[in-house]
Amino acid sequence: MSDEALSNLLREDRLFPPPPEFAARANAKGSMYDEASADRLGFWAEQAHHLHWDAPFTEVLDWSNAPFAKWFVGGKLNVAYNCVDRHVESGHGSQVALRFEGEPGDRRDVTYNELMNDVCKAANALIELGVKGGDRVAIYMPMIPEAIVAMLACARIGAPHSVVFAGFSAEALRSRIEDAQATLVITADGQNRRGSVMPLKPAVDEAVDASPSVQRVLVVRRTGNEVPWHDRDVWWHDIVDRQSSSHTPEAFDSEHPLFILYTSGTTGKPKGILHTSGGYLTQASFTHRSVFDLKPDSDIYWCTADIGWVTGHSYIVYGPLANRVTQVVYEGTPDTPAKDRFWDIIERHRVTIFYTAPTAIRTFMKWGDELPGKHDLTSLRLLGSVGEPINPEAWIWYRDTIGGGHCPIVDTWWQTETGAIMISPLPGVTACKPGSAMRPLPGIGAAVVNDAGTPLGNGNGGYLVLTEPWPSMLRGIWGDDQRYIDTYWSRWPQYYFAGDGAKLDEDGAIWVLGRVDDVMNVSGHRISTTEVESALVSHPKVAEAAVVGASDEMTGQGIVAFVILRGGVDDGEGLAKEFRAHVAKEIGPIAKPRQILIVQELPKTRSGKIMRRLLRDVAENRNLGDVTTLADPTVMNLIAGGMSTAQPED
Ligand code: WT7
Repeated sequence: MSDEALSNLLREDRLFPPPPEFAARANAKGSMYDEASADRLGFWAEQAHHLHWDAPFTEVLDWSNAPFAKWFVGGKLNVAYNCVDRHVESGHGSQVALRFEGEPGDRRDVTYNELMNDVCKAANALIELGVKGGDRVAIYMPMIPEAIVAMLACARIGAPHSVVFAGFSAEALRSRIEDAQATLVITADGQNRRGSVMPLKPAVDEAVDASPSVQRVLVVRRTGNEVPWHDRDVWWHDIVDRQSSSHTPEAFDSEHPLFILYTSGTTGKPKGILHTSGGYLTQASFTHRSVFDLKPDSDIYWCTADIGWVTGHSYIVYGPLANRVTQVVYEGTPDTPAKDRFWDIIERHRVTIFYTAPTAIRTFMKWGDELPGKHDLTSLRLLGSVGEPINPEAWIWYRDTIGGGHCPIVDTWWQTETGAIMISPLPGVTACKPGSAMRPLPGIGAAVVNDAGTPLGNGNGGYLVLTEPWPSMLRGIWGDDQRYIDTYWSRWPQYYFAGDGAKLDEDGAIWVLGRVDDVMNVSGHRISTTEVESALVSHPKVAEAAVVGASDEMTGQGIVAFVILRGGVDDGEGLAKEFRAHVAKEIGPIAKPRQILIVQELPKTRSGKIMRRLLRDVAENRNLGDVTTLADPTVMNLIAGGMSTAQPED
């Protein structure tokens, strides 16, 4: 973030207290902060007791093997039972759990009774396919009810799932299958995107052909397009539909692995973030109940995330279902058939709680006020934001134009690694400042520290750290304990280093400023510069590449690549397009550079390290900073001169 943007942000002094009617009925009261600070572990034990335990835990936290935590030691539970059966048993079987809406307009309501039957059948099918507790299952699916059923079926039989966003490439899927040694892949024939069918099966086939660990591929029929077929493939309707709808859930240890979710780090290889059962479900459900204020008997909740990201795991599947939510699940894009699709959905379903990302909010702002203005959005009572800092202008627009000026906004800071929300207003308690995630939730410890790891006072900026273990924290990186320690716990061994910069304002509110490592945030998605660089240099025409994230009005950051061609390759037209397509093939369309600049040299220090800071200056059209440490100070002039010719994405 530029200094100017930062100081604008910190001049923000508007304050929005919760409406009194909201505060009076809110699930979370201000006293929670005191309770949690008086007895943090007791507070979490109390939250854990909202779940059903088959065997009680005997210790809240075992931190003796730090940074590898064990929460709710000795406790046993079944996550799927907690998210589904329990609600049927308490007499809510006919409550709608999922209000599914396909992009083409097809609708399907799934009650808790039906969800229980579907999950049991799918669990029985997985068992028939040879999946055992502990086996990893890769899920590469569109946003359809079967995706949620598949995740819950895995949880039910204790087979950790690894959901791979269906927008990722075959190669990205393959590398994630390989890292986790998944034995089964669950997918669909295709998904509906922007009015057409986007096939999924060919990418799965390509990935699985190169994945010896995979034995079977389970395919949901969604779009009805022709798909190539192999002996290892089985249709979901052929095997799931004929299963018994009863399945006895097994109680698993609180620390039994629930899922692996890959996220970009500072090296080329994505990290398999490992989450376990009891602590994860405790914090996912607690935060959903208190930050989103869910009232299970009256709310219609809608989180627009995809199950391919952690938001979909924690705030579509596990947290909400554990709290007996009724929620909208939407398959498609916000502009199909028209740019008011989201507002249309909110109006028709009478959505009360809406959770989306700043990049989407900024896009809606650009599309104009007439679109939400055509719809009755008065059902809304709470709005949420996640994925990147929300600029005050977007916050205010969200509040006024979508929330009708009366809905509290919760700006929720968290990460794939934290598993659940960590820093956020409590909607009935906190007076919010537009653009600030405000304060750590009860039971959570956070600080802003300097290089030496010393916590800073109000009015200072530094690095955001978490000071205490929390229930839904990652338990490690799949297969790489050392990388877990190195990445998060080595800079200051007593703190978890989140990778974000932050500032404490004069009142102690936290302003998250964005990543301080080589990780970009594009439309709320984390992409590492190194990953895109490796994708670029794997192209036969590329000798070297350097990638930076440049600030972008719409997407937060945009990817800008500087590429040196191999000898003998002409800087011809169409090269940038070719490289962009190559990155899409290697990683996925979300990683396509916004601009590609062909250069002769890259700015390097005398020891050969690429100076990204200077490249960022160029990419953001800023005057060049200090170039005296460069081995060849003249290269920057050449690069900066070429910037104007870099073509923005077509
Ligand atoms: C990174 C985590 C958390 C689910 C979606 C992204 C950024 C996230 C906020 C926020 C400012 C935010 C941070 C964080 N981030 N939420 N409310 N304000 N920044 O999960 O892919 O693991 O990315 O997203 O930089 O480190 P993720």
